[in-house]
Amino acid sequence: MRHQIVIIGGGPSGLLLAQLLLKQGIDAVVLERQTRAHVLGRIRAGVLEMGFVDQMREAGVADRMEREGLLHDGTILSYNDREVRIDFRKHAGRPVTIYGQTEVTRDLYEARDATGGTTYFEVADVTLHGMEGDTPYVTFRHDGQDKRIDCDFIAGCDGFHGVSRKSIPDSVRKDYERVYPFGWLGVLSETPPVNNELIYASSDRGFALCSMRNMNLSRYYVQCSAEDRVENWSDARFWEELRRRIPPDAAERIVTGPSIEKSIAPLRSFVTEPMRFGRLFLCGDAAHIVPPTGAKGLNSAASDVYYLFQGLKAFYADGETDGLDSYSQKALDRVWKVERFSWWMTSLLHRFPDQSAFDQKMQEAEIAFLSESEAAQEALARNYVGLPY
Ligand code: FAD
Ligand code: PHB
Repeated sequence: MRHQIVIIGGGPSGLLLAQLLLKQGIDAVVLERQTRAHVLGRIRAGVLEMGFVDQMREAGVADRMEREGLLHDGTILSYNDREVRIDFRKHAGRPVTIYGQTEVTRDLYEARDATGGTTYFEVADVTLHGMEGDTPYVTFRHDGQDKRIDCDFIAGCDGFHGVSRKSIPDSVRKDYERVYPFGWLGVLSETPPVNNELIYASSDRGFALCSMRNMNLSRYYVQCSAEDRVENWSDARFWEELRRRIPPDAAERIVTGPSIEKSIAPLRSFVTEPMRFGRLFLCGDAAHIVPPTGAKGLNSAASDVYYLFQGLKAFYADGETDGLDSYSQKALDRVWKVERFSWWMTSLLHRFPDQSAFDQKMQEAEIAFLSESEAAQEALARNYVGLPY
């Protein structure tokens, strides 16, 4: 078999790239390890930058997002009894869109169904070959058969645990990593959100986040220990802990209900360099991870897709390779700034197990400065709504 591009991973980055390419008449096959239902069952991101929405528009997949997505003009940060509202419109000129990653992925799969394009689900033993030459190919098992696809380029969109990054030799690759000593326990519940904007709350009991998917679907998180297990958290215990960490007026208003999903996510900062090895290009979580505090993971996957798509488009239009040659550097320049922001938000709002009284004073002073300084609010707002591509 032959396709122009093999995309490994049918998560949001792989699907968005495939759809953008298809609209340009460039043929990309998608290989996904899981079933479609499994990919759609994962509850993850919920906050989209305008750049993400623009790319969904360019891919022709933004109609439902534009109808159902909620525009948020700001967010609340609370630290013990101090609250700061960050006004996105005022300080950064644009809102963010609340629309679940599940819905993004569903829209992309439905568009793929409608426009054609081959997707193999439940593939195994995906192996990348010949990336250093001009004739790369990918082998895998599907439906009990060994398959081989020859291609011009391979896009590694297979997430943090995928095979693509690991196919780059250790002698070429440098990894940078910080693992945080806590996780996030997340609960999805069919209840109205406690507030019309997100609340990022830091209390002496730890961090909590009040988020949402729509006006009858809430998403809440509490910081938990890295070793904690979902079985330790009954719904009652979760709601009680959440109430104790958020501002008192929100705690009073909150509507609780049964959880329809509950999971623990570890927190990690990670970047691999370079993001290109010959004819292999890494995109999204395959190349970098951020802790979720700044809502940046999916959004930085989308900026990678943007740079890679521009490079591939120019290559297929007139053989121009500048875009592909500068891909890794352009993507990494933005990724590192996003890493910094996510690390900073995480450091500011979480209680660390080894945190000293001095460290806590530093967090308090940072919050005090943020509440008094328009410049500091602007810096936060500009990063949160998304740095330019
Ligand atoms: P993935 O979504 O990981 O997709 C990779 C795909 O590749 C998967 O479907 C996987 O099954 C497949 N795959 C893996 N290995 C192979 C293989 N060998 N062969 C074939 N296929 C393979 N980001 C935000 O921007 N905003 C948020 O609000 C936000 N909140 C988050 C909250 C939580 C709790 C978590 C965990 C993450 C959050 N993120 C957020 C991060 C965001 O979900 C990820 O950055 C995003 O999913 C990355 O997309 P991706 O397509 O690069 O990778
Ligand atoms: C979410 O709604 O899942 C969410 C929102 C904001 C974040 C992280 C996660 O910073």
